[in-house]
Amino acid sequence: MNTMDTPLRDGFPLLAASPDLHYLDSAATSQIHRSALDAVARHETTCRANVSRGTYRLAEAADRAYEQARQTVARFLNAGAAGEVIFTSGATASLNLVAHAFGNTLKAGDRVLISVAEHHSNFVPWQMLRDRTGIELALIPVTDAGQLDLARLPELITGNCRLVAVTQCSNVTGAWTDVATLVEAARKVGAKVLLDGAQAVQHGPQDVRALGIDFYAFSGHKCFGPGGVGVLWGREELLAKLSPFHTGGGMIGEVTPQATTWAPPPQRFEAGTPPIAQAVGLAAALEWMMTLDWQQIHARESRLCELLVDGLLRIPALRLLGPESSAARAPIVSFDIPGLHPHDICQVLDARNLALRGGHHCAQPLMAALGIDVCTRASIALYNDETDILALLDGLSFALRELA
Ligand code: ALA
Repeated sequence: MNTMDTPLRDGFPLLAASPDLHYLDSAATSQIHRSALDAVARHETTCRANVSRGTYRLAEAADRAYEQARQTVARFLNAGAAGEVIFTSGATASLNLVAHAFGNTLKAGDRVLISVAEHHSNFVPWQMLRDRTGIELALIPVTDAGQLDLARLPELITGNCRLVAVTQCSNVTGAWTDVATLVEAARKVGAKVLLDGAQAVQHGPQDVRALGIDFYAFSGHKCFGPGGVGVLWGREELLAKLSPFHTGGGMIGEVTPQATTWAPPPQRFEAGTPPIAQAVGLAAALEWMMTLDWQQIHARESRLCELLVDGLLRIPALRLLGPESSAARAPIVSFDIPGLHPHDICQVLDARNLALRGGHHCAQPLMAALGIDVCTRASIALYNDETDILALLDGLSFALRELA
């Protein structure tokens, strides 16, 4: 266990090389941990070959590294079997995979329930499925505090509901979803549950079996790993019933001039050459994460979140989005200052070495529900410390004076 109560900044080469940078955009992309970078370099210089194809020793070493990476992801998620882990290019690809492969099992009139708080990647694929097949797409609204309004579930989880697909944690408000309540309601009508874990994974290992869900999606670049790799986890028996989304090499049983049969999962869903070195790098990041003391990290992230929220609430006219309680949110804090555009705020802050995202955050339906077009977001990860928060609060006072 790593029990240091320090921000762990030294393990991140970019941060170590940029001591003045206050990086507060980990919800968009976390920094990459040294172990992941080293693993990618090691793989590319010692094991680089394609997987599931070659019979020479180098290709077999690549196969072993790739399949070991799958096993590591399975451990990180407490999956039932490594075969439940599908490597994709990222959470977006994972969500599209479910929308197509599971979507193919749906018929006109079946219902998919998502929420107003979804990232566009868990919104647009379902709208397209609705337009192609005539499914019903229903939305869980959000409360004023930006949390999914689960009091509305009895009327929304109807008998024809086949899937509930929601975010585990909003990329705008940081609000955690009450997954247990959702799963219980979904089970009553036999609906499956997909969780978009993109924002949750950087806050610790997950337990898909304890969550009681059916699908889980996340990206490597948001949990200290490389970009270009992500994961879809699905229950074995469910994956076995689905047809592929992408087709091509590596996913077939047999191809004849007339027809094709499919390989079993997970290969059925990994057409073409997968992101091999990226998967190995992701596994190294997850291995590192599994050595950390998450109780201690959560306590520090919550302290920083509270410090930020307290400071923001002192700014006149600023509207804090999402729950005020740090227990109800991941350390993602968005706000609106009427009359000031987030892009202007972010530009002034950037000049003070503060990296934040401003805009609609790929969540326009949520923006509309909150009555805004855009907002400014600070997201905190395990390498942040008090100096980042104080620099942000100071920078915001400066921005208010400059831009007012
Ligand atoms: N989904 C990422 C974000 O929220 C890119 O910023």
